[in-house]
Amino acid sequence: MDQLVEIKSKIQINPSRVGKKYFVKTFGCQMNEHDSERISGMFELDGMSKAISEEYADVLFVNTCTIRENADDKLYGTLGQLKQWKSEKDNRKLLVGGCAAQKDKELVRQKAPWVDVVIGTHNLTNVVDLLNRSEDWGPLTEIIDEIETLPTEAPSIRESEYSAWVTIQIGCNNSCTFCIVPSVRGQEISRRPSDIVNEAKKLVDEGVKEITLLGQNVNSYGRDLKIEGKARPYFSQLLEQLNDIKGLERIRFTSPHPKDFKAETIESVKKLKNVCNQVHVPLQSGSSNILSKMHRGYNKERFIEKVDMIRKIIPDVSLTSDIIVGFPGETEKDFQDTLDVVEYSKFDLVYMFKFSPRPGTLAYDMKDEFISNDVINDRFLRLKDLQTDISEKRYKRFLNTEQKLLIEKTSKKNSEIFTGRIDGGQLTHISKDNISVGDIVNVKIVDTTPFYLKAELL
Ligand code: 5AD
Ligand code: SF4
Repeated sequence: MDQLVEIKSKIQINPSRVGKKYFVKTFGCQMNEHDSERISGMFELDGMSKAISEEYADVLFVNTCTIRENADDKLYGTLGQLKQWKSEKDNRKLLVGGCAAQKDKELVRQKAPWVDVVIGTHNLTNVVDLLNRSEDWGPLTEIIDEIETLPTEAPSIRESEYSAWVTIQIGCNNSCTFCIVPSVRGQEISRRPSDIVNEAKKLVDEGVKEITLLGQNVNSYGRDLKIEGKARPYFSQLLEQLNDIKGLERIRFTSPHPKDFKAETIESVKKLKNVCNQVHVPLQSGSSNILSKMHRGYNKERFIEKVDMIRKIIPDVSLTSDIIVGFPGETEKDFQDTLDVVEYSKFDLVYMFKFSPRPGTLAYDMKDEFISNDVINDRFLRLKDLQTDISEKRYKRFLNTEQKLLIEKTSKKNSEIFTGRIDGGQLTHISKDNISVGDIVNVKIVDTTPFYLKAELL
């Protein structure tokens, strides 16, 4: 029997909320967005349909993030407002899940007693069962330490018809001293390659053209899948299998870890037609001293070697990165090292973060070395200015080139314009004339900015 059927039937729910409406409010990263699609899938198995906004919902799930302190603040602010939401209509149910729930556990309901269910990151597939139990027995919290059922076994209601997330690995075995992820998402677990390939095939049958593979550390994918005592398959082999799927036009992945980055992964990106020409290499800091305090497993020189290796194999690759400004003890010299590496690496785009102390992480206890907000803000702006200059210059390489553009959605700022992405991942604007969402069209890049490209249909 086809395995796809098995995946579908693993989660069984007797629909008990037919006619009711749900809404899922998501904070944080792509993992959370994808988990939210699974939560929606389970709510639909329960008979509910999606409300256009929380205002029309009977059941509201808040999927939380805790990566930086402001995410926590936002959560408790939001829950404060949702007290009103609950009181506006009888029998409304409020559920809180995700990373902040996993971290704060009972504290969520202590701070917001009007919450009906608090559920962690490891037991998402129990969501409907917990909702049922809370109706029968009153508000409850269920947080478990180890994953029981992979959320990938639940059906999913996707946000986009043409692009989809595919989880290849959950959890993280690293211990970066600033990061709370390992404590809320647990140990690394890789999904079996055949599960992943089957899911991708099924998505293509449903009309999906682009998938983004998700994992905290995709280069170490498969390390825990031992066959004959050897850890395999490697990530590049998985890419090869996915590349062979007919009708799947684009494959992206996030995030790799620079320390585990192998040349063969880049060779695969180069060789495999459907794997996009884009690589994310999270630098975090350019200072060897700070990288060592972050437990990142590489130093300034090793990072530069990785960039050289990548560019030697694919000279025109689009590189993106994450950088944290103001890690405890960061001196002006350390920050200058970050600017140097940024200048050298010529990233297309950098996601920049101000260091945020997370309770329970090693960096949280480096209080004596915390950097003042004024210094962090100043460095953040300097880094932003430098990267804007670099992006502006880098994006010019696309001017007058022909590209394939996948149309994603109407621009938030201008309803006459679609936004989409070219193969390298750069955001691109185009007039709506003669095209629809989901089309992959041949375009010419006619203008560039440091933040997006402008295209015309060819
Ligand atoms: N403070 C600031 N940024 C952080 N990140 C992770 N933890 C923290 C923190 N405590 C950033 C890292 C990571 C990205 C997803 O979030 O740059 O790569
Ligand atoms: Fe956090 Fe480091 Fe794991 Fe990334 S690799 S999730 S930054 S601990």
